[in-house]
Amino acid sequence: MRKLRSNEVFKPGSFPKYTYVSRKSSGFGFTYETRLKQALNTPGYLTSIIGPSKTGKTVLCEKVIEPQNMVSLTGSDFKNAKDFWEVVANKVGLPLEGEYSETTVLKGTDNSPEDKSFSTREKYGSNKDKVIEFFKKSNLVLVLDDFHYAPEEVQLDIAYQLKDAIRREFKAVVISLPHRADDAIRKNPDLSGRLNLINIEPWQEDELKEIAITGFEQLGIKISDELASKMALESLTSPQLMQSICLNLSLILNIDENESIKEINDEKKLEESYRFTTINLPYQEVVKKLMAGPSTRGQERKKYQLKNGEKADIYHILLKAIAQNPPVVSLSVDEMKERIDQLLVINSKEKIEKNKIRDSLQKLHDIMFSSEPIYQVFEWKDNQIFILDPLFLFFLRWATY
Ligand SMILES: Nc1ncnc2c1ncn2[C@@H]1O[C@H](COP(=O)(O)OP(=O)(O)O)[C@@H](O)[C@H]1O
Ligand SMILES: [Mg+2]
Repeated sequence: MRKLRSNEVFKPGSFPKYTYVSRKSSGFGFTYETRLKQALNTPGYLTSIIGPSKTGKTVLCEKVIEPQNMVSLTGSDFKNAKDFWEVVANKVGLPLEGEYSETTVLKGTDNSPEDKSFSTREKYGSNKDKVIEFFKKSNLVLVLDDFHYAPEEVQLDIAYQLKDAIRREFKAVVISLPHRADDAIRKNPDLSGRLNLINIEPWQEDELKEIAITGFEQLGIKISDELASKMALESLTSPQLMQSICLNLSLILNIDENESIKEINDEKKLEESYRFTTINLPYQEVVKKLMAGPSTRGQERKKYQLKNGEKADIYHILLKAIAQNPPVVSLSVDEMKERIDQLLVINSKEKIEKNKIRDSLQKLHDIMFSSEPIYQVFEWKDNQIFILDPLFLFFLRWATY
């Protein structure tokens, strides 16, 4: 038996105890952990962490803040909330304002021999005072995760509540996605000058590789640098995707049961694990919708002859081009043109011109951004495609649809 099982080492959905990678935040030379620790040690300041989805914001807090000191709430906990402090008090089990009562008994006297009991409502200050007091006494940190899930007016109220609380040395971290969602905090004039800002940047290839290398090492297996690089490239910028690929590769190789495996160097198995990893990704409908393109009102769209024998319309071809090697987070219109020319038969009279590429990408953009958030997988801006969701690109490259 191996000392650890692969699902203890690779944790795509939770805290990666054995594969935690400590990263440096660029320009500072300090690790994110050091920065968060320092931020929490600055009395009177609020900490704001922003970064794209699934880049390790929650995991960072779990690494730095002791579990017994971390009080975690998410934006959606405040959806129907009237009072911010009431929600926090509830979370830590503090009795709420007005609920606390005590019975006082007055002993009987000679004049009135019966005992009298009074139910008195003790005033312990507001919920806010109680919570702040309790947090300070017990050295607690409030982590407001996924703040963007709180309704906008609630976000502003929370910012207002926190402003006064942090002055009284209440410790809080607010986590949100970049753009808009963090405005209530970062662009709030009341909070300016009292914020610690931590921006989680995209993961680099070396940092992603470390997950695979240290993880397999923990399992007593050596993975070649070349394969680890390939996996990092596929993961694009997502540590979660890297964790999933590693876990699925372990399953496919059956390494938990087969102790004789000491090394991984089989690229075929790697590709099998990519395909396996796409099974649980929710992009089937997204691809379908994008492939269909805008409505043609029943008219047949023009089809082009591809080198591989297929015929495909422009939207199909655009997605194929995005899926080509190497996987990258952004593509210019020239790069798209090049990729498309590679796909089409060489002497085809019907070239696809850049203008057509631009127009069609704009149409895809409009489809995505008038649909639910799950459909917003890339954007078309300033003549460039920007992949917003690395898992989507991975799906596009490896899934069958
Ligand atoms: N520092 C890290 N080292 C290794 N894996 C990580 C790290 N940070 C995140 N991950 C992986 O990514 C997943 C998502 O991280 P999470 O903190 O939940 O993202 P976010 O809160 O930014 O959405 C984790 O469950 C873990 O698999
Ligand atoms: Mg999170």
